[in-house]
Amino acid sequence: MRILSGVQPSGQQHLGNYFGAIEQHIALQREGEAYYFIADYHALTTVQDPARLRELVGQVALDYLALGLDPTAATFFRQSDVPEVTELTWLLSTVTGMGLLERGHSYKDKLAHGITPRAGLFLYPVLMAADILAYRSDVVPVGKDQVQHIEMTQDMAELFHNAFGCEVFRRPEARLAEGAAVVPGTDGQKMSKSYDNIVGIFDEGKPLKKRVMSIVTDSKGVDEPKDPEACVPYQLYKLVAPPEEVAEMGRRLADGGYGYGDAKHALLAAIDGRFAEARERRRALAADPDSVEDVLAAGGRRARAVAATVLGAAREAVGMAGHPVTGP
Ligand code: TYM
Repeated sequence: MRILSGVQPSGQQHLGNYFGAIEQHIALQREGEAYYFIADYHALTTVQDPARLRELVGQVALDYLALGLDPTAATFFRQSDVPEVTELTWLLSTVTGMGLLERGHSYKDKLAHGITPRAGLFLYPVLMAADILAYRSDVVPVGKDQVQHIEMTQDMAELFHNAFGCEVFRRPEARLAEGAAVVPGTDGQKMSKSYDNIVGIFDEGKPLKKRVMSIVTDSKGVDEPKDPEACVPYQLYKLVAPPEEVAEMGRRLADGGYGYGDAKHALLAAIDGRFAEARERRRALAADPDSVEDVLAAGGRRARAVAATVLGAAREAVGMAGHPVTGP
């Protein structure tokens, strides 16, 4: 079984990334042949500052390694170290209807948030399909917000096979974390780097406190009974705290006499407890950037060999040479 997933280096990794995806990525890394990458081509749709992009890629690498990614178990690499995916994006774009892309939730959401649509943002799902198909992935562990992109990938593979009468790709399936929900941000909408409503995994001290205290709630007073499920601090607490403590907070909120401020303080302590070890590991890894770079470079070489074979088969299927000409 081949497992593949990617994460954008467009800002700090947050609780949505962790509970939607990263936790699953780490848990699955020995369940098959795992490929995890840092989607820097995708991030270019929002980060257009070279120094910042390089820095963010390094940050994501540290985040994953600190959270438990083992580069001897999984192939961990930078998307752009496999330029074959951009060529495959083009091949797939020639069979993909505009209508399919126009129906993209993520694209529509970004437009609704006033983000200027560029061709790259519109083609984002095609690049993502190329990522998935280039490695003949069977399973794609992602958060709920990405499921439609996997369905689009299935459609694009089929469109390509029908257009060219071939069977080059494998049909990928999305894998959601158990009990998966979209993790809410500090404003109650989907937690997202593009919406500035995140709680960072590696935030600590004052910045973390500021974020947690800024989580929106309704205006019920301390004494009033509250609906835990409508309380964002409780929803986040459910992810980070042990089940008995979650049940306890649920009871206290429902009984009254327990305020949103209390829930936020408990959440803060639970986040600190949950990520304390990873934070220590991250500090140690950050002191040795060369070894992190070596991990990514070696992963890139392994990933590229796989993608080049699949791209060769796709080129042949459309009537091109199986391998691009490489030099004089
Ligand atoms: P990205 O960087 O936005 O998010 C990385 C992963 O985190 C999950 N996630 C969430 N899950 C639950 N609740 C949330 N609030 C939340 N926010 C983020 C996402 O579902 C994702 O699994 N397009 C992808 C990156 C990508 C990719 C791929 C993924 C590029 N190519 C190929 C899989 C396969 C993205 O933007 O993820």
